[in-house]
Amino acid sequence: MKSKIPFLDLKQFPDHLKDELKEKFSELLDKGVFSGSEEVIRFEQKLSQLLGAPFVISCSNGTDALELALRALGIGQNDEVIIPAMSWVSTAEAVILVGAKPIFIDTDTSGLIDLEILDLSFTSKTKAIIPVHLYGKMVNMKKLVKWAESKGIFVIEDAAQAFGTFQIGISAGLHGDIGCFSFYPSKNLGALGEAGALITKDAKLAEKLKILRNHGQEVRDHHVTIGRNARIDTIQAGFLNVILNYFKEWQSTRKSLSKIYVDNLKNIDWIKLPDGTDLSDHNLHLFVIRTKFRNELREHMFQNGVETSIHYPTAIPQLSPYHSKKEFPESETLAKEVISLPMNPFLSEETVKKICEVIKSYKPDIPFAEKN
Ligand SMILES: Cc1ncc(COP(=O)(O)O)c(C=O)c1O
Repeated sequence: MKSKIPFLDLKQFPDHLKDELKEKFSELLDKGVFSGSEEVIRFEQKLSQLLGAPFVISCSNGTDALELALRALGIGQNDEVIIPAMSWVSTAEAVILVGAKPIFIDTDTSGLIDLEILDLSFTSKTKAIIPVHLYGKMVNMKKLVKWAESKGIFVIEDAAQAFGTFQIGISAGLHGDIGCFSFYPSKNLGALGEAGALITKDAKLAEKLKILRNHGQEVRDHHVTIGRNARIDTIQAGFLNVILNYFKEWQSTRKSLSKIYVDNLKNIDWIKLPDGTDLSDHNLHLFVIRTKFRNELREHMFQNGVETSIHYPTAIPQLSPYHSKKEFPESETLAKEVISLPMNPFLSEETVKKICEVIKSYKPDIPFAEKN
């Protein structure tokens, strides 16, 4: 059956927002400024204010943000970087792109780096750890930073999915040395194309990041290192300045929708719901449930007009370019059991209730031994 409730349909931006975006495009087209400019500065200032971040460096996308962060911290050949086995592939990709080696570590039952086994992955070559705030839920940063400090290594937060989350009043990305965001269109704050940002409390790191982002130039034609062109497009910064005005409202919609999911699904014993969705350190980027009947449920939902997604179907060390001989039991099980339900600010409460009814109408074939 053809899906009737899409997982995410970005055509559903409200008409008044579409009009504002068209106006912004028209304004920039008339100005004829397509790189840098006050639009980019305004975007960085807005983020700085919203996140309480002393330094914001906008950039081309979240993957480049991770690469720039690693390079700014001097991480490269012969270095090891600890990363979780379950994430979007960029976390591992960036480590390899700077010439370092990703050391995968298993996740806990929510998909976050397992803080109980960090010591097992530490060696004399370890230079940094990249916790990933997967699905928009923050890793316990107090615990992680304390461990990293005891080992004398850097912390780069992959906050690509966690824009707008705060733990003990501090934004994701500001607990460690550098935080990386993605504004890929499907993110909670999404551009109309590719974009990203880095945040830090450290003025010197901020300066290095700005230089690396712009061909290693301190000022025009004065190249002090080998950098990249990893600048944000002016047009994307302009669109993000418009979309940012809706961010808080959209976040509260996500929170209300997630409450409907939790209230309606909490008594189903063959489903594990995400933890802490009502807290400030979860931004509901994705609403990911776990079930042993993942594939069957997904098919049932599809047949009943509900599109879902999987984040992610394979643990990174199981992908051929990243192959590791080690086993990562929790991440590998997650890959088989997770299912992402529709979660975006364009959904109505009625639609979410309908999705819950479809889930409840599925009757899994639970073996007798497991029922008792
Ligand atoms: C956890 C994680 N890390 C990194 C990235 C990379 O961001 P981008 O797609 O903007 O390069 C993403 C986004 O897809 C992500 O979800």
